[in-house]
Amino acid sequence: MSAIRTHFLTHFKYNSSLAVQSPGRINLIGEHTDYNNGFVLPAAIDKYVEVAIGKRTDGNIHMVAIDLNKKAEVSIKNLKPHSSQWVNYIIGVVYQAIHKIDTNNSSSQLEALNNGFDICIKGNIPSGAGLSSSAAVECAVLFAINELYDLQFNKMEMALMAQKAENEFAGVKCGLMDMFASIHGQKNKVILLDCASLDFHYYPLDLTDYSIVLFDTQIKHSLASSAYNTRRLECEQGVHLIQQYHPHVKTLRDVTIEQVEKYLGPITDTPAKIYKRCKYIVSEIQRVQAAVLDLEVGAMQAFGKKMFETHEGLSKMYEVSCPELDFLVEAVKNNENVIGARMMGAGFGGCTINIIKKSALEMVTQQVAASYAQQTNKELAVYVTSIEEGTHLIK
Ligand code: GLA
Repeated sequence: MSAIRTHFLTHFKYNSSLAVQSPGRINLIGEHTDYNNGFVLPAAIDKYVEVAIGKRTDGNIHMVAIDLNKKAEVSIKNLKPHSSQWVNYIIGVVYQAIHKIDTNNSSSQLEALNNGFDICIKGNIPSGAGLSSSAAVECAVLFAINELYDLQFNKMEMALMAQKAENEFAGVKCGLMDMFASIHGQKNKVILLDCASLDFHYYPLDLTDYSIVLFDTQIKHSLASSAYNTRRLECEQGVHLIQQYHPHVKTLRDVTIEQVEKYLGPITDTPAKIYKRCKYIVSEIQRVQAAVLDLEVGAMQAFGKKMFETHEGLSKMYEVSCPELDFLVEAVKNNENVIGARMMGAGFGGCTINIIKKSALEMVTQQVAASYAQQTNKELAVYVTSIEEGTHLIK
């Protein structure tokens, strides 16, 4: 029996009906572009959350978080945001499921789900490292209730519902990338997602000669902190200013660099902040499209160079980096064994993502860890990651 099912049995004294594994994610390039309707290039990784689930009949949800050593119970009727955030990641998607079934008028499914469930949850994604542990929880729970009560949601519906749950119950105005990647991941493939049309395409990532390595600053970022939501607002302000001249412009996806310069640039009286934010985003959306062409022809050096450019933009123009992240990128910038590196995810802490030549992996990680410790007095956590399958049932 899998470990998660054993935990379930210990807590609930009966065998779970099914168990689900849902991964965290990396993102190769395309940062802060998802909520601007741009492109992202994420992949699911070998760190994950697992849940085991079983049906109840009394309309309640009983939850156990093994890693936190916590329990909670709520009624499935009138779900609303809870004072414990970990509970919100679970009930937030249940709320979305109920709402969706309601609008679809599927009364038999609603009746089934309203019976409630027991759920046990455990994971190994470091929290606050920018690897989307919360999205993994949301996707795992939603996937599990979808299977348990045969709710018939498809993957994209589940990703969108999980995003809404994070927006409404966890209070973070995140984009779609994390949930999308967790659910849609495929082994050894990165996924180009067009966040405007929701079209996506898998690209094989040939890691024969390279490793993807995450350097974790161990600085906990708090996404809910206002900075993320402020960046969104600043982008919207830029859109609003350009819209006055070009009414078809709905998001920064519709904007060109020339328009950014003309309507937001130094010659205008637009605040410099808005200009910098928008210039970064419009450049980054273009950069992802160019980076994918590099991947197609196996031009890994060119791809890696773009990662460094992304970091520069995130640090200087979007201003979501921090000294530790900058230090880690700087530390590998002129290292011929590191073909690309940048901060990853929302920022203000968490990890850098590095593409490192396999032959030099040990040497580089040791050097970086030593200089990081010397510089910051903090221990660097190093995760050599593999790209794995998205949310799926486990035995
Ligand atoms: C977080 C959010 C994502 C995305 C990234 C930045 O991970 O959850 O939606 O915006 O930050 O690219």
